[in-house]
Amino acid sequence: MDEATQMFEFRIAPKIIFGLGSVEKTADEVKTLGGSRVLIVTDKGLMKTDLIEKVIASLKNVEFTIFDSVEPNPKDTNVAEGLELLRKKNCDLILGFGGGSPMDVAKMIAALATNPGNIWEYQGIEKFKSPPLPLILVPTTAGTGSEVSRAAMITNGRGRRKILFLSWHLTAKTAILDPELTTKLPPNLTIWSGMDALSHAVESYVSKMANPLTDMYSEKAISLIINNIERAVKNGDDAEARNNMLLGSLLAGIATANARLGNIHGMAHAIGGEYDLPHGLLCGSLLPVVTRYNLDYCAEKLKRIAEIMGENIKNLTTRQAAERAVELIEALCRKLGIPQKLEELGLKTDEISDLVEKTDIIPTNPRPTTKKDLSELYKMAITGSA
Ligand SMILES: [Fe+2]
Repeated sequence: MDEATQMFEFRIAPKIIFGLGSVEKTADEVKTLGGSRVLIVTDKGLMKTDLIEKVIASLKNVEFTIFDSVEPNPKDTNVAEGLELLRKKNCDLILGFGGGSPMDVAKMIAALATNPGNIWEYQGIEKFKSPPLPLILVPTTAGTGSEVSRAAMITNGRGRRKILFLSWHLTAKTAILDPELTTKLPPNLTIWSGMDALSHAVESYVSKMANPLTDMYSEKAISLIINNIERAVKNGDDAEARNNMLLGSLLAGIATANARLGNIHGMAHAIGGEYDLPHGLLCGSLLPVVTRYNLDYCAEKLKRIAEIMGENIKNLTTRQAAERAVELIEALCRKLGIPQKLEELGLKTDEISDLVEKTDIIPTNPRPTTKKDLSELYKMAITGSA
């Protein structure tokens, strides 16, 4: 679309506190937001690390309760259980601590505390009517961007289907991003969460809803992630690389909150609900194949990605440069050990029709996509050939 005639909206919801040691500011933020009894929403894996101690140390003079039953690809039952504990303990502020799963559950508990009724009444776009309870989000991975997004993905336990909730009432009052919390992240989680963030940056950049402001965030996010992911994987204690990965994830999250996403996420959510596989791993596996599928509908943007990735595109046509961007993304994924075919993760072609049925058509994907197109995309993603 011609930028000169494009009308757009842009919004950043939470106050953002970023930097080494920023987790120590948690109690100050609780007080600023008027909280007196905090519900910390996290998972059992994080409870085994010493990271939670950093939050607890900050909350030494504040009453708190810990809800640590959030599962990966979190279920509606996780939200219900957390909500029950919130009511039992009469908590008035929620603190989501962890990767995307605890943060998404924290968002849903905060919103459902003030919006009565069944959780599924609120699925879809902007269904919550009342503002949520005050919410602070503290990510411990550099990937989901959930701390600044208005989205939460919850799996319907019975239907094994991931459901999108999208609302500005699902946003935090404060996001606290401390790169030190990510330094213990093992290499595989660093790769998967980093590929999730890169997918957010690329999908928001080529989205039909992208605008000049989201483009700034997406471009900077792509640059930060591709220039730091290998360093962060090789040496988890590389403070600069961890800082830049978390910053890249944050910027991609802001772009995504405004420009939304595309087929990578439509497909990753359908597969994640069915197979319970890590979201970032799926995004990384789908990134090259979906980007290639979109190539002719976002060639100018892909040409710019090739430039951002350090390619000399002076003597290339736009299409050649776009093709080069896809090759560079493929090469990066290969180097990081991301499976090139989903069959390596156990997916089978005879599951395609079921997956297509469970995949939302994403209107912001640059290339219009029908259910038949999705079927072909799944075949390519699973087997590596059309
Ligand atoms: Fe994602």
